[in-house]
Amino acid sequence: MNWPVVRGSTATARTTITAWAAETPRSSGRPSTRLFKVNFMDREKEVFDDIEGLILADARKTYSEKVIDHFMKPRNLGALENPDGFNAMSGICGDTIGIYVGLDDGRIMRISFVTNGCGPTIACSSALTCMANGLEIQEAMKITGKDLMEYLGGLPVEHTHCAELAVNTLRSALAKVL
Ligand code: FES
Repeated sequence: MNWPVVRGSTATARTTITAWAAETPRSSGRPSTRLFKVNFMDREKEVFDDIEGLILADARKTYSEKVIDHFMKPRNLGALENPDGFNAMSGICGDTIGIYVGLDDGRIMRISFVTNGCGPTIACSSALTCMANGLEIQEAMKITGKDLMEYLGGLPVEHTHCAELAVNTLRSALAKVL
């Protein structure tokens, strides 16, 4: 299955539908735009909860709970202020991951990521920052794509490269501070 695009979908859909509602003419026999918007807003959370539930039920057929958890609630997301190291890499699919590290005496004390990638890419990046946080540089360099996939409870074969990209990006960021 294709990973559903969830990021920002609620806000995007809200904006789209609200814009559509604002353009809806007040023709006879139809509720006014204002009434429609009020009714829609009342139902909005329920509708999106339903949609999210359907998407998650579908995702659970393919992805582990841990992958879904890291995708839905990514840890350490966003740029780091005053990092000691940073690098970004792109995969064969065009997805890019950037990893920031902050070090103290050769140990990773702060770490974060940014990405424009798919759900598994987000999950891999998030999980990898959790795995690497607190490790010495050399220990973090030894984390493999296989380690990351095991931590996540597996990935479909078409997304194993997401784990490799995350690991390689971390290694390249750390290589810059060696
Ligand atoms: S699909 Fe290419 S890095 Fe995730």
